[in-house]
Amino acid sequence: MDNALARSGFPTCPLAIIINGTPYTLDIHPWTTLLDLLRNDLELTGTKKGCDHGQCGACTVLIDGERVNSCLKLAVTLDGAEITTIEGLGTPGDMHAMQKAFVEHDAFQCGYCTPGQICSAVGLMNEGHAHDRSDIRELMSGNLCRCGAYTNIADAIEDVLGSAKRYEEAAE
Ligand code: FES
Ligand code: FES
Repeated sequence: MDNALARSGFPTCPLAIIINGTPYTLDIHPWTTLLDLLRNDLELTGTKKGCDHGQCGACTVLIDGERVNSCLKLAVTLDGAEITTIEGLGTPGDMHAMQKAFVEHDAFQCGYCTPGQICSAVGLMNEGHAHDRSDIRELMSGNLCRCGAYTNIADAIEDVLGSAKRYEEAAE
């Protein structure tokens, strides 16, 4: 990254971070959130800014496999961390199973909440606490959808969760 920030006279902090498998060595302002780093500095605009206050889940990404609201995370606290955004989960030609399920179940309308919904759903699967649809609804309650696509979102996640369970059973 061009360190115009470092030359601006404001204090900066060094940050070594891996985003979607690519290592970055940066100098950032200490008040930069992970969300602003992704969108403004690295042009990874798949991650969306909704409320900017930890209340909508639109900015959800994975930090070392755990789902986090990136608007609440100061980037300087993430030295050495591995971040996965929606761009790192899959590509149009090689989608993650959760991305495929959202397409197959038509689990979006405007799509603004969708990157956060998908990253959160992958984090939910990593946690392993969702065992049925009711768990999915409860554990996805931090991700709001103003279009109200909740039924199809739950269908998509339930589909992937069910497939994973069948896979585990078949492997036993
Ligand atoms: Fe982060 Fe709403 S933008 S929770
Ligand atoms: Fe529009 Fe969720 S699809 S906000």
